[in-house]
Amino acid sequence: NEGSLWGARFASGPSPELARLSKSTHFDWQLARYDLAGSRAHARALAAAGYLQPAELDGMLAGLDALEARIETGELVAAESDEDVHGALEAALIEVVGPELGGKLRAGRSRNDQIATLVRLYLKDHAAVIGRELVHLIDALVAQADAHPSAIMPGRTHLQHAQPVLLAHHLLAHGWALSRDLERLVDWTKRADVSPYGGGALAGSTLGLDAAAVASDLGLASPAPNSIDGTASRDVVAEFAFVAALIGIDLSRISEEIILWNTREFGFVTLDDGYSTGSSIMPQKKNPDIAELARGKAGRLIGNLTGLLATLKALPLAYNRDLQEDKEPVFDSVETLEVLLPAFTGMVATLTFHTERMAELAPAGFSLATDVAEWLVKRHVPFRDAHEITGALVRAAEERGVGLEDLDDAQLAAVSPHLVPEVREVLSVEGSVASRDGIGGTAPARVAEQLSALADRVRQL
Ligand code: ARG
Repeated sequence: NEGSLWGARFASGPSPELARLSKSTHFDWQLARYDLAGSRAHARALAAAGYLQPAELDGMLAGLDALEARIETGELVAAESDEDVHGALEAALIEVVGPELGGKLRAGRSRNDQIATLVRLYLKDHAAVIGRELVHLIDALVAQADAHPSAIMPGRTHLQHAQPVLLAHHLLAHGWALSRDLERLVDWTKRADVSPYGGGALAGSTLGLDAAAVASDLGLASPAPNSIDGTASRDVVAEFAFVAALIGIDLSRISEEIILWNTREFGFVTLDDGYSTGSSIMPQKKNPDIAELARGKAGRLIGNLTGLLATLKALPLAYNRDLQEDKEPVFDSVETLEVLLPAFTGMVATLTFHTERMAELAPAGFSLATDVAEWLVKRHVPFRDAHEITGALVRAAEERGVGLEDLDDAQLAAVSPHLVPEVREVLSVEGSVASRDGIGGTAPARVAEQLSALADRVRQL
């Protein structure tokens, strides 16, 4: 039982079955450098409180630095007998600085306050990486919008032709959604910026260690105000997983459109060769695999979140070993997004839009009917009547198998005496788009305005 963290009270070591179940080094080794950062901060707090002499502190810090160097080269890895990253690194430190000094580091801390702190450090770093990737994606959407200032496409509701809109307007809609995800990550950081270190197992420490100094040493804003909450809560992990899931969902909505737009029937986009795949049997195929993987991974990100929430549900205070189950799902969410986002951004940045095909379809499906109804309103026809008249106009055109703009003066007048020839002014998609000039509307000037507003917003976050 030598070398175990709790050996003395036990007559025997853990059974092999327990050791296998209990082991977490295959995933928590990712936290090794945060564990060492925590140990350095803790050693300084022990020294400040008089539990380590200055020379001992120096020896301890040198030992921790030596471990960090060996971890970076891959030379130091967890041993088969190690349960978790904390125990493994304590054992490794003892090998370097000896049991006398190495055995002093564990005073006044527990793996419970350690792990609760380390997971925050890890997530804060990765929130910054994911945030930068989101900015790149938003930039790519903004650049595509900027490159297509006047392209008009069929705007849809219920996936049916609804009203013509600018392609740039549509692309920016996705950009705004992603900017809120970025804002969520930034806001999450405020709640993550807390250090449970010093909380011990649950009740705090008797040693008078300066938890605020440890927090600031670790780059965290403040110590946890309640040691039970600090060691037992994982809402910060769940909230991170939620933001990651929402990013996945927002990507999946873009993906679904790219997949549709890339079909022969739509013909709105062509994917760059570097961001699409072929088929092993059908030589002609060019598939939107990045969009499909993004759509699929949204499910995985949702699964990580729901798994975590289920782990936390009804868990009594304070620390329970169930909490070890928080790491694999949230690590997976991080890795998923860090691999997915760069590929996704590349796909968006290199999309070719077939604006002539979009323009051809923009007026189809009587998408200018609302413009006719609003034109009638401007001539003081009550909207209820205008809606009726326009509905009858659509039916008349549909019966003849033509568009609204193809009806002659007599056919217009037959539907309603209000439908004088000037109505044709609004029967163009350009006119329709230009006239929707309220805030947030699809008029080119409004879209140009929100394009710079979005670019600014992202820079402010
Ligand atoms: N490996 C544990 C976790 O990930 C931390 C260790 C706490 N273990 C314990 N038996 N109190 O949550």
